[in-house]
Amino acid sequence: MCGIIGYTTKSSNSVDVALSGLKNLEYRGYDSSGIAFYNNNELDIVKAKGKISNLDEKLSKMNTTSNCAIAHTRWATHGEPNETNAHPHHVGKVTLVHNGIIENYAALKEELQQAGYTFNSQTDTEVATAYIDYCYNKCNNKLQALIDACKKFRGSYAFNVIYEDEPNTIYASRKDSPLVVGYSNKGNFAASDVSAILDYTNKYSLINEDDFVKITNSVVTFYNDKLQEVSKEIKTATWDANQYQKNGYDHFMLKEIYEQPKVIQDIFSRYYNDCDYADIDFSNFDNIHIVACGSAMHASLVGKYLLQTYAKIPAMVEVASEYRYSEELITPKTLMIVVSQSGETADTIAALRLAKEKGAYVVGIVNAVGSTISREVDKCIYTYAGPEIAVATTKGYTSQVAIFSTLVLNAMKQKGLLDEDTSSKLKDELLTIEDKLNEVISNRNTYLDIAKDIYNHNDLFFIGRGIDSTVCMEGSLKLKEISYMHSEAYSAGELKHGTISLIEDGTPVISIATDPTLFEKTVSNIKETKARGSYSIFVTTDKHNDMNFAEFADKTVIVPEASEFIQPILVVSALQLIAYETAKLRGCDIDKPRNLAKSVTVE
Ligand code: M6R
Repeated sequence: MCGIIGYTTKSSNSVDVALSGLKNLEYRGYDSSGIAFYNNNELDIVKAKGKISNLDEKLSKMNTTSNCAIAHTRWATHGEPNETNAHPHHVGKVTLVHNGIIENYAALKEELQQAGYTFNSQTDTEVATAYIDYCYNKCNNKLQALIDACKKFRGSYAFNVIYEDEPNTIYASRKDSPLVVGYSNKGNFAASDVSAILDYTNKYSLINEDDFVKITNSVVTFYNDKLQEVSKEIKTATWDANQYQKNGYDHFMLKEIYEQPKVIQDIFSRYYNDCDYADIDFSNFDNIHIVACGSAMHASLVGKYLLQTYAKIPAMVEVASEYRYSEELITPKTLMIVVSQSGETADTIAALRLAKEKGAYVVGIVNAVGSTISREVDKCIYTYAGPEIAVATTKGYTSQVAIFSTLVLNAMKQKGLLDEDTSSKLKDELLTIEDKLNEVISNRNTYLDIAKDIYNHNDLFFIGRGIDSTVCMEGSLKLKEISYMHSEAYSAGELKHGTISLIEDGTPVISIATDPTLFEKTVSNIKETKARGSYSIFVTTDKHNDMNFAEFADKTVIVPEASEFIQPILVVSALQLIAYETAKLRGCDIDKPRNLAKSVTVE
């Protein structure tokens, strides 16, 4: 979602630096961009619909000499993506960029209109800008104006503010939307995340919800809402700028798929060498709620399956935006597991806050170090997958599955369900997953071949049973989000209860059957679709290599056989590459699919 970067410097290149930082935030998803800076005390605001390159082109024709700039990528919420609605907004003495939603903007707008303000855009942000100006006119103190205005705002925000009478200073605050401060010898930053500033510095501080920050080119001062100074820890980012480059790959998504063998192998190595799950004692809880969104929710379904099947522990999985409707089920004996790559997903944050209010113990499975979720949970298990730039998650999902596998192994140990022999066989298998994963992802020609068969179709189905049906959901989501093909994931046995009416001559059906005990039943379901003309793509393991698939499969993908603790990771990697090759053939913008945001910071 929206990306923010503000930079104030002793030199005059603030616009260039802010723009380059903004490009590092592109992955968050956006549909317009803009920048504001003072040049010889004259305010310039430049905006462009579409890609940042459009903004860049406009700026290249201007004198952009300036010591301070605030820039923004907008993911439209209130009002269509056009230049009027794009940020920055300017009202009176205030210029503002904003990430989030001011939920009570309509009431505030009325109040401001009565006070004589007029508005040009459809946005909540213009109202917020005017409200800060309104407060500033009343109190004549810039920090106080921001504090007063924030007290009136309901909803979420990360703000960078510049006041006309102090054009080289950035004021910043946040609630429920991420914002960090960055420090360098040449100047200081306020940005949505560290990736925006890593080319210039790795020193940063997290802005807390009740912090109000004044940022000049040499000094950064944090205040609380009583205008008292507060001290702040300066952290050092461990991710380096190189990790934000494609490093020779055509797309970030492809690079991230290829990073999976190492990422997953590292998770299992850490588990066996340095495991710290002692404080997650499953016997302390009456119920387990696993809560997440999108792919993280799909990883949670694998977690639930493994917990129930192997540790004999029942669990409920809920999409975060629906979790509050299960409020009655949350008690102090609830173990909640929230799963999030970004650690900033608004729905997931809201769910975890609700659970904490009700006294639940909350464990987070999180990738982004220092993110909101990682800070608010009782215990955080990091996936350490490194930065994920492509909007469609790949290593984010597989690393979450791997963490679930380790949690379940630990639960089995706690319950005495893991004998030594099985434990040592599993350990051998998990610690060599890198080879199996490399084998899967090296099979590129097979995936391209399948992509050529399916890329011209409009509808597609994924079917499977048991753990495979959860993997179908992730395979289907990957395909729809990056190729814009309509695709549905169905439990193989459920298809005949209605949805099979959609199968026509040539409709592609991707079926997964890895579990030998469910194999025959799944094959029967595939045959049901074949009998209605489907084009059948069959994914299975090398355990079934000697079988003749020709009777029900037009194409076959074979992955190495493995235990269910890692089988979903192997299968999904093949599905990720099928989606990737299909989207490429369809000419889609793979890393930045339309309408999507990497980090969904609004509810
Ligand atoms: O950062 P999170 O893991 O909390 O994000 C959750 C979903 O928004 C995310 O997985 C989304 O579904 C991805 N685009 C899927 O590729």
